[in-house]
Formats: sequence, structure tokens, C-alpha cells
Amino acid sequence: MCGIVGYIGEKQAYPILISGLKRLEYRGYDSAGVSIFNKKVKVFKKKGKVSDLDDFASKQDTAGTVGIGHTRWATHGEPNDLNAHPHESMNGHFILIHNGIIENYSKLKEKLIDRGYNFISETDTEVLANLIEYIYLKGKVSAEIAVRLALSKVIGAFGLAIICREEPDKLIAARRGSPLVIGVGDGEYFIASDATPIVEHTKSVIYLNDDDVAILSRDGLSLKTIKNDSLTPKVQIIDLDIGEIEKNGFDHFMMKEIFEQPKSILDTFRGRVSLDKMEIFLGGLYNVMPKLIEAKRIIIIGCGTSWHAGLVGEYLIEDLARIPVEVEYASEFRYRNPIITPDDIVIAISQSGETADTLAAIKLAKQAGATVLGICNVVGSSIPRETHAGVYTHAGPEIGVASTKAFTAQVTVLAMIAIVLGYERKVLSKKNYDELIKELHAIPTKIEKILKSNNNYLKVSKLYKDATNFLYLGRGYLFPVALEGALKLKEISYIHAEGYPAAEMKHGPIALIDEKMPVVVLAIKDKTYEKIVSNIQEVKARKGIVIAVVSEGDTIIKKLADHVLEIPETKDELCALLAVIPLQILSYHIAVLRNCNVDQPRNLAKSVTVE
Ligand code: F6R
Repeated sequence: MCGIVGYIGEKQAYPILISGLKRLEYRGYDSAGVSIFNKKVKVFKKKGKVSDLDDFASKQDTAGTVGIGHTRWATHGEPNDLNAHPHESMNGHFILIHNGIIENYSKLKEKLIDRGYNFISETDTEVLANLIEYIYLKGKVSAEIAVRLALSKVIGAFGLAIICREEPDKLIAARRGSPLVIGVGDGEYFIASDATPIVEHTKSVIYLNDDDVAILSRDGLSLKTIKNDSLTPKVQIIDLDIGEIEKNGFDHFMMKEIFEQPKSILDTFRGRVSLDKMEIFLGGLYNVMPKLIEAKRIIIIGCGTSWHAGLVGEYLIEDLARIPVEVEYASEFRYRNPIITPDDIVIAISQSGETADTLAAIKLAKQAGATVLGICNVVGSSIPRETHAGVYTHAGPEIGVASTKAFTAQVTVLAMIAIVLGYERKVLSKKNYDELIKELHAIPTKIEKILKSNNNYLKVSKLYKDATNFLYLGRGYLFPVALEGALKLKEISYIHAEGYPAAEMKHGPIALIDEKMPVVVLAIKDKTYEKIVSNIQEVKARKGIVIAVVSEGDTIIKKLADHVLEIPETKDELCALLAVIPLQILSYHIAVLRNCNVDQPRNLAKSVTVE
């Protein structure tokens, strides 16, 4: 949700800011802007993509070695040039960019209007710019003090990068709730919402914590809290390769990430699943394992695709380890007064590690005394820092807004947890434990095989790209996959799609079926195979179009369905990892054929840092 970059050093800031914004564009892409300081402050901003901003700004004088840049996902005020960041305070003393929401902005705005301030945008950010300026002028204090005093009056979330016109050799960064990373170079510093714009310049970074304020100059950095307590910066070296954040010959990040899944799943279980020793070892959970094994209840929280992975996790843990599991949308959990006890284990799932609702739900669970674990992809993000223990998915950066490889990595981690718990709790025999480990190892090769059928998916996609509705049906482990398939299609192709447990179709959605309705049925040879064959017949009897994902060599469904997409056989417990792949590819092709912006679908952002 909004991308922030900043630079101070000896180099020209503009190219660094623009290339950084392009890397962060997945966080928001409705408008963008930069501000550069060179004797005076220049601000360029435009509705649209970073490339629109660049088309406009590169024709202007962008010289200067200090600057800030922003790519926006609108919260307050529609996407237009005026509401785009950076925002200047009324008298031009401060220029700032902001990610997050200032919740008490209307009260602050009223007070500032009473004191003579005018506003030209509809944003909460302009209120903050004017509040800082008001304190700066009234109190005759330094920029840093004005920023800290203003932030102590603010309720809400912010990641901020600020320039003060009178102190041009400084950048001020501050964070509460919205992520911010400082890149430490040689006589230069970078600010960014995540490490991707920084990695091509330096691998040394400092992750800001909530309520940290960093003051950056070419000579050094000082770190303190909003309350003015001095802090010692902790510089960490990031393990992120530039190749991981490029498209590497694919037209879109989404397709690159779909095709990466054999490797990303391998990376998820590398060093954790051993065929030699025939064991699974999750180092990140070592200290909490005794508690997990004895758990009376596990609550899984997440949003969107991560919530779907959580549902697969529920089925896995209940099936293999016989521990009761509840899966909750983080946004509901945090506000519905849930019963949480110190005996509960809460598992938070998040690709970005920054989702605001998931973070707030974690804090709530911690307050209630629960042990909170994280399953996250982005190393150093807020959720792993907030949880008691956890497992990184190590899927590599996921840049396409639609989540693909993160889902399979999350399910892989949940499968590992369920298998270990099943074995330790003596629900799984050693034989079953060994078989599951072997099968987990075989998954990447089986996905490679599925990816070879890409052309087949393209053919089917061409036939149904103009459909207005899709239904996705699955049972058992494949019900969450049906939900995920429907989400993938709707978010990138804007076709309405619904996922349903196949048997529920009779209780309402069957009324939707006619000769124009494509129904994607997940119909592999698992224990509900016969039942799902009946569901396919019910759809066909009403002239629906059946696209069935089936086990290799299936002959029965081939006769019934309009199209079959074959996947290799696997154990029921791991079938979600294979069955989701055809659905990801199908939605990708349909969206491309409809000329949709696959990597940056409308209205969305990769990392949802506002609630
Ligand atoms: C869908 C998608 C979203 C995210 C959701 C949670 O493709 O990407 O539904 O899954 O916003 O994000 P994380 O996992 O970062 O917490």
C-alpha cells in the first residue's frame, strides 16, 4: 500500500528514485510523484503509473542529490495529480511522502484551519505536513523536533520520508505500522518501503521499528524514538539477489512466479525435509514445539490467499495431527471479540508480513497470552518481528500482485507442520510419516510436469475468456483450492467467479448454471472421487460447461467433461499443491487475453498496510 523511496548522497537522486518506484509499483499504482532538492525544492507528480510520471518529469530539471518519491494506492481522496504525493506544507517548509492512514486527520485539520491553514488536497498526508510546519514555525524548533512532536499527536499508521526546505542536507524517516527500511551505503542512504529498491545499491539495511525516527545526512545517521530516546542502529545484511526481482524473460512477474514454483517449493523445504534421515526439522519452531505438540487448539489467521492456505492448513492439521483448528479472517478476528486463551496457538500467515489486519490480530492474540507463530515470506518484515516464533517460506520475492508461489510455499510449510505434529503426537505411523516426506519431495518434479501443459491451458482460456461468470468446485483439500482459483480469476481478469464446496452447489449456486457457465471442477482421484463425478453429472445435466482438473489417465471424467486438465497423482494431503497450478495458469491466460494488467490489477496493491 503505497511505495516510498528516498535518497541522500553524492549521486543524482532522480534516476534512483524512479527505478526504486518502479520496483515498488506493486504496492500501489494510481499516481506517483517525486521531490528533489537542489537549491530549491522541486515537486513533480502525476496521476497514473510511474512511467507516466517519468514521461513528464524527465523533461524537467530533475538535478539534485537529495530526493523522495512515492507511488500511491489511494485512501483519502481520489487518484489525481493534486492528491498524489509528495505533499507540501502550506508555506512550503516541509515536503513529505506517506504510507498509511492518519486516523485523527479531520480533527487535526479543523484545528489547523482555525489557525489559518488552507488545504489544496483531500489527503490526510497534507494535514500532517501542515501540522509539522505549524509546530516548526510556532515553536521555532528544528525540523526533527517538529516532526517528532507532530507524530506524538497523530493516531494511525505511517511510513514517512520528509524534506525540510531549511535543512536541505537531511532526510527524516519515521515509521509506525507501515514498513520502512534504510539502506546504508558509502556516504549515502536510501529509504524504501521494502528492500527491493535498495538491493541494487547496497545490501546493508536497517529495519525501522514502530515509533523510530531516523535522521539521515551524507555524514551519518541518527536513530531515536518519537519520544527522543536515542537508539543504536542495527545494520543487517540482506540476502536478496537482483535477479530475483527481474522478470527474467517472462512477460509478467505472475507467470515467472508460477513457473518458479518447482524451485520455490524446494527452497521452502530445503534444509528442513531430509530424505536421508527421513525427518522434518523446523528450526524456527524448535522452542515452541513441545507446546505445539500438546496444543488443545490452533487458530490460523490471515487474509485473502493466505487465508486460503490457512484453510488447507486446517484440513491438514486436523487430518494428520488431530488438533482442532479454526481459521479466521484476520480482519474479523480482531474486531469480533474472539475467545483466546493462553493455551492457544495462533498461526499468522502472510506473504508480505505487513498486512495491517493480520498484524493487529497478532497483537490482540499476544495480549490475550496466546503463543503466536508466523508463516511469512518477506524476511525482516513486521509480522515475523511481532510473533514469538515462526517459519519463513523462502519463496523469494513475489512481485505479481496476485499471489501464486507464496500460496504453495505456505501450504508446504503447513504440510510440514502437520506431518511433524502427526508423527510426534503418534497419530501418523512411521510408515505414513516416511511416505508423506517422500511425496513432499516429489512435488516440485510433479509441478514441472504440469507446467509443460501450458499450451493446453491457453487453448481452454481462449474459449472462455469472454465468459462473465465462473464457478469453481472442490471437496476436501480441494475446496480451499476452488476458493483460491476463483480469487485468482476475479482479481486479475475482472470476471466474476465463485468458489464452492462441490456438494454445496445443490443448495443454491446450481441455479446459476446454464450453457454459458464454465464450471471448473477439481476432480482428482481422492476419497471423494465418486461424489465429485456425480457433481459433474449434475452440472452437465443443466448444460453447464465443465473444465475438470483430473488425475493423469482418468478416463471416466474425460467422457463427461468438456475439457480435462491432467495433473500427476499424489497423496490426498498434498493435492492442493498440484491442483492449484492449472487454476493459476488458466487465470493468467484469461487475463492476458482480455488485455488486463496482470501484474497490477486495478484497485489492488500487493501489501495491504491499511485496514
Ligand atoms: C491475492 C492476494 C491477496 C493476499 C492478501 C494477504 O492474490 O495476493 O489476497 O493474499 O492481501 O496478503 P499477505 O499474504 O501479504 O498478508
